[in-house]
Amino acid sequence: MTAKMRLKISKSAKLFSQALDVMPGGATSNARLWQTAQFCPIYTPCTIFAKRAYGSHIWDVDGNKYIDYRLGFGPIILGHSYPSVRNAIHAAEKRGTVYALDNELELNVAKKIIDMVPSAQMVRFSVTGTEATMHAIRLARAYTKKNVILKFEGHYHGNHDYVLFSTSPPYNTKIRPYPESLGIPPGIEKLVIVETFNNFESIERTVKARHRQIAAIILEPIMGNAAAIMPKPGYLKFLRELCDRYDILLIFDEVKTGFRVSRGGAQELYKVKPDITTLGKSMSNGYPVSAIAGQREIMEFFGPGVHHVTHGGTYAGNPHVLTAAEATLDVLKDRRIYTRLSRYGTRLMGGIRETLEDTGIKAIVQGHPNMFQYVLTNNRTEINNYRELKTNYGIDMYSKIQYWLLTQGVMLDEDSQECWYTCLSHSLDEDLEETLNAFRIAVERSKNSKFRTSRFKLETDRATKQVKA
Ligand SMILES: Cc1ncc(COP(=O)(O)O)c(C=O)c1O
Repeated sequence: MTAKMRLKISKSAKLFSQALDVMPGGATSNARLWQTAQFCPIYTPCTIFAKRAYGSHIWDVDGNKYIDYRLGFGPIILGHSYPSVRNAIHAAEKRGTVYALDNELELNVAKKIIDMVPSAQMVRFSVTGTEATMHAIRLARAYTKKNVILKFEGHYHGNHDYVLFSTSPPYNTKIRPYPESLGIPPGIEKLVIVETFNNFESIERTVKARHRQIAAIILEPIMGNAAAIMPKPGYLKFLRELCDRYDILLIFDEVKTGFRVSRGGAQELYKVKPDITTLGKSMSNGYPVSAIAGQREIMEFFGPGVHHVTHGGTYAGNPHVLTAAEATLDVLKDRRIYTRLSRYGTRLMGGIRETLEDTGIKAIVQGHPNMFQYVLTNNRTEINNYRELKTNYGIDMYSKIQYWLLTQGVMLDEDSQECWYTCLSHSLDEDLEETLNAFRIAVERSKNSKFRTSRFKLETDRATKQVKA
């Protein structure tokens, strides 16, 4: 097989140039701009413009076809445009999109979540993961009558002010709540404590000293926004016990892990029940719906009456997205799906590990088969927290590999902190083989050939200029 050398990007570059005039930064989400790394040619002022996606593949406007491992930052668990979900949505379209009245679907989907997620006794729906964590934190504050939340470096919980701290902070300074955006009012950081994931001693010390203020510990049980760092054995159980001892609520943000790492999420995998769980992404195979689930006694604070914690939203629990959730969970309730998913991911992780070893590149391939990442490192055998990750990542090499993977028809995120996500539509024969072949070519090319950044950069700059002129 002859390896393709170049990626066609002229149409994307042209559209990007136009987008710069109408959208700040040329994109709707800062996270979609491929600019994290300094080196890869694709980090010219460009984002790839997608045209369509089906099954395990995504196509861009230049006609490139890729096996997709970004899967919309994780939600596509079944495959793009999955037939049973798509058909259910088509039928639902005829029944209207928003009622502002209760509907039976809410009941059905809530029951499914309660059946599948071990700690869920009651459920409320929102639209995004951001809203879910915002409401979960408000609920925890109301229930405990305390205000501070403890979160971890490198954990992302959406983009509201209370959690937008230390998701990707500088890593050579003292640990503190580091605001990730301008516009967060000063003072909010006083309500946030940031700790190091997997560091039992330090967390215990902090909680012991501050427990009278701490309403909740919120975490991603597997670090889906930091190269899939896993919890150490016993760590989640330790957090559970710590919370029980000090009357603190434990919130698992399972927006990424929920319905992905197992039928019941990370809490099922690790057999630890949080007080509140936030869900989204894989719950609906890509439609905008999220959920807050938890113990009855806590969740009832959302209702009317003496406790009264506000929660709602025009689009919360609308029949359109809940139709997608119902159809998705109908597939995911079958545990065999997860055996199939894990088989693919395990082989993929194994193949990636083998190629990196064969080519003499030191790396750790870590995470869960359904969401994992490789970390290029010379001096570690395991990565347990954000700082260990950041001080080890061979970012240039990652960027090169990502670029050459694109040329070979495999799409991986440009951000090395993101994960490889797998879906039910990835085929154990073709997709797996193609990906592993592409990975070998990409690694060899990144290692051996001179990477002509300037040529690609010039190419994109030229295309951008031509449109501007
Ligand atoms: C763990 C986690 N929580 C919350 C969110 C926010 O979800 P959304 O983008 O739907 O607001 C994300 C998004 O990636 C996430 O990864």
